[in-house]
Amino acid sequence: MGDALILPPSTSGDGPDGIHLTNPEATAAAGATLARLLRPGDVVALAGDLGAGKTTFARGLIAALGFADDVPSPSFPIVIPYAPPELSLPLWHVDLYRIDDPEEIEELGLDEARADAALLIEWPERMGARLWPDTLRLSIEREGDDARRLTWQAPTAWEGRWPPR
Ligand SMILES: Nc1ncnc2c1ncn2[C@@H]1O[C@H](COP(=O)(O)OP(=O)(O)OP(=O)(O)O)[C@@H](O)[C@H]1O
Ligand SMILES: [Mg+2]
Repeated sequence: MGDALILPPSTSGDGPDGIHLTNPEATAAAGATLARLLRPGDVVALAGDLGAGKTTFARGLIAALGFADDVPSPSFPIVIPYAPPELSLPLWHVDLYRIDDPEEIEELGLDEARADAALLIEWPERMGARLWPDTLRLSIEREGDDARRLTWQAPTAWEGRWPPR
């Protein structure tokens, strides 16, 4: 598994309280670490306030899966699907911020997409109780201008994978 176990280089203060992310590069590197552990069918929820760094994390993850271009934010399209050969696995990058009515989420077809793609979901709060129980729940919080803290709730499906060791 080798480099799957490498933590972001500028991480410090790690421990039971999460991973300290000193700057945007560290947040992107944490995304890259998760990319190496990700499998089709996985769901990763990325919670955090406006501007917390969710898309920054997603950009690091998607780039680490092999995407060569700039990674756009899905804030407006809501869903941006990726697939091989651009990425090493099928992935839907989702941003539910603009969803008002939970019924609209049904129409996105996330359940069906999970059959063969991994889902990375910003603003997962919009799904309420519809969020699958096997979701890896990550949360990014501000700790200052450029510092963030990554915390998580990892279900059984992620045991031995997250947190990375
Ligand atoms: N440690 C850090 N990690 C991530 N972003 C950081 C950090 N420090 C500063 N930033 C800045 O914070 C902003 C985060 O923006 P980003 O689009 O990633 O947030 P977001 O959580 O996706 O917001 P939104 O809710 O609008 O989708 C960027 O401008 C980034 O440069
Ligand atoms: Mg975003």
